[in-house]
Parts: sequence; C-alpha cells; structure tokens
Amino acid sequence: MLAQPPPIADFLYGTAWKEDRTAALTELALRTGFRGIDTANQRRHYFEAGVGQGLAAAYRAGVVARPDLFLQTKFTYQPGQDHRLPYDPAASLSVQVAQSLASSLQHLGTDYVESYVLHGPLSAYDWADADAEVWEAMCKERNAGRTRFLGVSNVSLQHLKQMTAAHTEAPAFVQNRCFARFGWDREVRRFCRERQITYQGFSLLTANLEVLRHPVFTNLAARTGATPAQVVFSFARKVGILPLTGTSNAEHMMQDLASRDVALPPEALQAIESLGIAVPQTPSSAQANAGCGLRGCKNRAP
Ligand SMILES: NC(=O)c1ccc[n+]([C@@H]2O[C@H](COP(=O)([O-])OP(=O)(O)OC[C@H]3O[C@@H](n4cnc5c(N)ncnc54)[C@H](OP(=O)(O)O)[C@@H]3O)[C@@H](O)[C@H]2O)c1
Repeated sequence: MLAQPPPIADFLYGTAWKEDRTAALTELALRTGFRGIDTANQRRHYFEAGVGQGLAAAYRAGVVARPDLFLQTKFTYQPGQDHRLPYDPAASLSVQVAQSLASSLQHLGTDYVESYVLHGPLSAYDWADADAEVWEAMCKERNAGRTRFLGVSNVSLQHLKQMTAAHTEAPAFVQNRCFARFGWDREVRRFCRERQITYQGFSLLTANLEVLRHPVFTNLAARTGATPAQVVFSFARKVGILPLTGTSNAEHMMQDLASRDVALPPEALQAIESLGIAVPQTPSSAQANAGCGLRGCKNRAP
C-alpha cells in the first residue's frame, strides 16, 4: 500500500523515438535540469540502454546522483513490441514481467526504479485476466524493492474502474495521452484525483496542435510573455497533470522547464479546461488512450 505520496519530479523527460541520440539527449535533459526520466523496455520505440548511457555520463560528470532522480520504465506486452523482446515470449506473463524489469535495471544501471508502469492493458476495452496477472507480478517486484511505485498507461475510465475493483492496490500513477478535445482526459483525471493517483499527461503538445492556435492560448501567451507550449505545460501542472515532454531541442528543454514559472490567471485555467467541453466524451474518445500501439492503433505510441 502507498504509505506516502511518491517523491516525483515535477516534469518528466520522455525518451521515446530518439534512437542513437537517446544517450546524448538524456544527458542533456539532466544537464538542463530535468530530474524525472520516462522510458520503456520496448526497443521498437525506446532505446532504454541509451538512457542508461546518458544517466551514466551525467553521474560521471557530477551533474546528478542516482538519489536525485525519478526513473520510470514500463512493461510492454508482446503485441506492442517488435522482435527485440526483453523477455522469453514462451514464459508466463509473470516471468515476462520479472525478466523485463531485470533487463530494464541492467539497461539503466540501477537496482531499482521509482516507478514501473504497465504500458497498456491487453484489450482496449476491458481489464483482462492477463492484465491482472501482470499487475500481481508487478506488485511482487515492488514488494521485492525493485520499484518503489507502480503505474498503468493508456487506460480508459473503464479499465481503471475494473482494475481497482479487481485488485486491492490501485496504481500510484496513470500515464495517458491528453487530448484537449476530450476535456484533457477529464473523467480519468477526476478518477485519479479522488484516489490520490498522480496523473501523467503525454502528447500535451502533439495531440493538441489545433488547440494551441486557439485565441485562448495565443492571447494568454501574449499576456504572460510565454510560448503557447509553456502555457500548456503551466496549465497542466496547475490542474494536477504531471507533464511529459519529449523535446529533442536544447532551447525547448529550457523553455519547458521554465514553464514552471509562468503564472496563469485563475480564469485562464477554466478557459483552457473548457476548450474541450464542446466535444462530449464518446466511447471512441475514451478508447483513444486505451492500449494504443498494441493492436495497430493509428497513434504512433506507446
Ligand atoms: N505511455 C505511452 O504509451 C507513451 C506514448 C507516447 C509518449 N510517451 C512518453 O511521453 C514522452 C513525450 O512524448 P510526447 O508525445 O509528449 O512528445 P513528443 O512526441 O516527444 O513530441 C514533443 C513535440 O513537441 C515539441 N516541443 C517540445 N517542447 C516544445 C516547446 N517548448 N516549443 C515548441 N515545441 C516543443 C517537440 O519538438 P522539438 O523536439 O523540436 O522540441 C516535439 O515535436 C515520450 O518520449 C515518452 O516517454 C508515452
């Protein structure tokens, strides 16, 4: 059980899609001031060993020490992977979880992570028996000290309701793609808030390109002297979303971190929250986050 709130960083640097630039960009992110790193043992989209190389370089240079960091990685089912599997596909799911996490720890040069996340449930609709087996295996890893906290990603409200009904332990983190047009994942965020689950939002920029051009954003940006991207990240944090950024650009890294200092007027939060109200949450929008990437989801993630 969660004894205390997770000691989380207030911004997560995402390491997907960086391939042979992963090590250098991870090191640069740490040098720029990020202290939370998100990765996955899913070679198709992440080069986790490169993240470990970036961490090692930062340790060597005295930029950070391991206790300063919040490291998060994920278990990904075989349908979300390519041929470069971090486990024996013939083994049981419980064994796959243990093998995948052992491999992650080796990649990252550590004997524990702060957060271990189920990358996406097996089904886009329901919390399946397979998910239950994986979650129980993840709980065992946590009990053995190899992760401090557990999370789930790409989940709908239905997944979360079924999951919390089936298990004694709720996740400490939910990580979802956050679409403005679906109320910034309003229902899932409410569920998380009521249970003290930290909601992590990704694709805050890339899922919302049209919204970023909306006068609400452009006017706020002009008024506060911030960029629209900074307004999004500032808004996210103020409404309880722990943001991720996957920028590969040094200037954007600095700007993203500087969004912590952007002061938004209180009425701005409501205005931004309301941008999605015109579009009701439909079954397809609820499923937009669910299990994507595992069964040919048109999104490029997880
Ligand atoms: N759980 C999952 O299934 C899942 C799925 C997707 C992502 N993630 C995680 O989330 C991380 C972030 O992914 P993401 O989808 O949010 O981002 P992303 O795909 O990495 O893209 C961020 C985009 O925003 C731009 N950007 C960032 N800061 C900016 C700024 N200040 N001004 C203007 N443009 C800016 C970047 O361009 P520049 O590079 O030019 O700055 C980039 O095009 C991933 O690396 C991964 O760790 C998880």
